[in-house]
Amino acid sequence: MFGRRGPRTAEKVEPTAPRIVFFGGKGGVGKTTMAAAHALRLADRGLRTLLVSTDPAHSLGDALALPLGDDPVPVTENLWAREPDADAALRRRVRGIGDDAAAALPREILPAVTRHLEHAAAGPGMAESALADLLMDTMEEVPERWDRLVVDSAPTGHLLRLLHLPELLTPWVQGLARQRERAIDADRFAVGVVGGSGENEDDPLLERLHARRRKLERAAERLREDAEVRLVLVPRRMVLAETDRAARELAETGFRLGAVVINQVPEDVDPEVLTAVRERFAAQGTVELALSEREPLGPDALRALVERLP
Ligand SMILES: Nc1ncnc2c1ncn2[C@@H]1O[C@H](COP(=O)(O)OP(=O)(O)O)[C@@H](O)[C@H]1O
Ligand SMILES: [Mg+2]
Repeated sequence: MFGRRGPRTAEKVEPTAPRIVFFGGKGGVGKTTMAAAHALRLADRGLRTLLVSTDPAHSLGDALALPLGDDPVPVTENLWAREPDADAALRRRVRGIGDDAAAALPREILPAVTRHLEHAAAGPGMAESALADLLMDTMEEVPERWDRLVVDSAPTGHLLRLLHLPELLTPWVQGLARQRERAIDADRFAVGVVGGSGENEDDPLLERLHARRRKLERAAERLREDAEVRLVLVPRRMVLAETDRAARELAETGFRLGAVVINQVPEDVDPEVLTAVRERFAAQGTVELALSEREPLGPDALRALVERLP
């Protein structure tokens, strides 16, 4: 399914590299910095790259020293970056779920469902999940529109939820589809029509639910087959402990882990901690970056920072 490689020579640079890369880790370790730097490097190699933030507290624009917005903004010849509008995405998402529910559920319970959705929309985590929805759409643009997609994620817990979201939503959509099928069957029964098994396919609302389910399934598959997570951490025990748990959960649930970045290594680093980090992630491979005196902001500083990365 992912074998549609174009004739571009740039594709031959990394024949087995996943096309979608997420940067994850605890807050403040350097995810945004690394995502921006990595995306720049891919673009410099001639790959059409989209860099997108799924952290509602966007800071990609700060890292690139460039104002970004809801639509992709050109950064360099092959790099575009985008900070999606979480509120707009959330409104679209609530509308989409409301439409699905209206299509599938009995009319008398709809007001309650709508009230529930309005409450849920204001709840914690909804902006992230709306951005996850948007990310699924963006993933579908790879590789036709983008050779590579680099994702700057919100801190660890959010990233884990984001990666599991397609699977979590599938039963909800399947449940709605079943409700709709029952409603259609009941209608048929009422008018005395004996329908063949394929006739439900003609129902546009049911089709919409099936299309949505297929999209979620594609996203779930894609996240396992064509994506990897690069964890970033700083050499501190507490950060190592959290990153260790995240790595475990990702591995246990079938996600691919790329090389781990040990960032902001100070000159007086505790050698024991550094050794512990190296050993913990020996299987993935580790890359170390010194804590530089200045914040690496803007394309040139970012390029200089990651020159030593493999
Ligand atoms: N190797 C480094 N040396 C010095 N400063 C760094 C380094 N990596 C990141 N920073 C700075 O650390 C801060 C946090 O980085 P950021 O990429 O925003 O982290 P995150 O996205 O994980 O919260 C920013 O000010 C960034 O410029
Ligand atoms: Mg960040």
